[in-house]
Amino acid sequence: MTVLVLGGAGYIGSHAVAMLVENGYDVAVVDNLVTGHREAIDASIRFYEGDVRDRAFLEKTFEIEKDIEGVMHFCAYSLVSESMEKPVMYFDNNVGGCLSILETMEKFDVKHIVFSSTAATFGMPEKSPISETTPQRPINPYGESKLMMEKMMAWQSQATDMTYVALRYFNVAGAKADGSIGEAHQHETHLIPIILQTALKQRDDITIFGDDYKTPDGTCIRDYIDMADLIDAHIKALEYLKAGGKSDQFNLGSSKGYSNLEVLETARRVTGQDIPSQMGDRRLGDPDELIADSRKATQVLGWQAKNGLETMISNAWKWQQSHPNGY
Ligand code: NAD
Ligand code: UFG
Repeated sequence: MTVLVLGGAGYIGSHAVAMLVENGYDVAVVDNLVTGHREAIDASIRFYEGDVRDRAFLEKTFEIEKDIEGVMHFCAYSLVSESMEKPVMYFDNNVGGCLSILETMEKFDVKHIVFSSTAATFGMPEKSPISETTPQRPINPYGESKLMMEKMMAWQSQATDMTYVALRYFNVAGAKADGSIGEAHQHETHLIPIILQTALKQRDDITIFGDDYKTPDGTCIRDYIDMADLIDAHIKALEYLKAGGKSDQFNLGSSKGYSNLEVLETARRVTGQDIPSQMGDRRLGDPDELIADSRKATQVLGWQAKNGLETMISNAWKWQQSHPNGY
């Protein structure tokens, strides 16, 4: 039986592939390499290069991979600011991709899917921490597209015997513990890789976007989840569905928040580098604080975040130093 990993050459998908293989799963990968890297997955993995929106290609892949026990779906465009400028492109890829995948799964009678949703589906929540009952009110096309994907899955699972788990990640960070794979986005926007590029002197400094938020030090607070913990949740979710668990959604974070300045200080400590920084203006659309309430994932999936911010930064630093220019 095979786990088909869609978007398996991306940052998170490539770690899922590696950890699935380490745990004895047979794995095949689909990716169009729009933001992913072939080098991020082992050469021995069965790899299908193509777009999930291309039905003929996807059906052919499902035909070849006859014994798919479940799908992990990581494909998406996922930059908030880009989604504000190109909403249609985001709905096309994220929602269009989801449509094609659900149709193909139904056609080939594949029963389970675990997929990447996001804290961005919550928008600017009034209460923190954010639980599964917090209203989802996205404030950008990226978050909206992911909420639409959640709803498509929910309706499809009601109408058929397909079951799904939507995992709403908070801020994902880290790399494989040996530093062999990690985050290699061409247009990097995330805080931790930008901090580490600065530590490596690939950038002169890091600009912290705003210190007038309603938080103790004025900078935004985020909840960081380590890659190994995140993939552990995917594997637990897949096993839960295989065991007959009902379709559900889970918020995934460490349930602990760090301000942007605290992340910077931790990175200075872990790397032993100065990491020059400056204070800049707010970035559009950043909520003051996003912290997950992940108790439901603990109760239902038996999952718990184990690794802290230091581990995430330390592993990402190993990756950054050994791959200064990505793959
Ligand atoms: P990524 O861009 O590194 O990975 C996405 C992968 O999907 C890439 O390899 C890309 O080439 C592939 N892809 C995209 N569209 C495709 C298509 N139409 N057909 C085939 N392949 C396609 O992004 P990531 O950071 O690894 O994120 C993975 C998922 O997790 C995304 O769905 C994202 O929305 C979600 N997510 C990420 C974060 C985060 O902090 N990184 C937080 C919340 C949710
Ligand atoms: N930040 C800076 N300087 C930078 C980059 C980021 O100060 O150069 C700040 C941001 O303003 C924000 C914090 O660092 O306050 C975290 O920003 P990221 O861009 O690293 O992450 P986001 O919180 O914006 O978004 C991430 C994912 C989304 C996901 C969201 C959920 O990119 O896909 O987490 O919380 F939806």
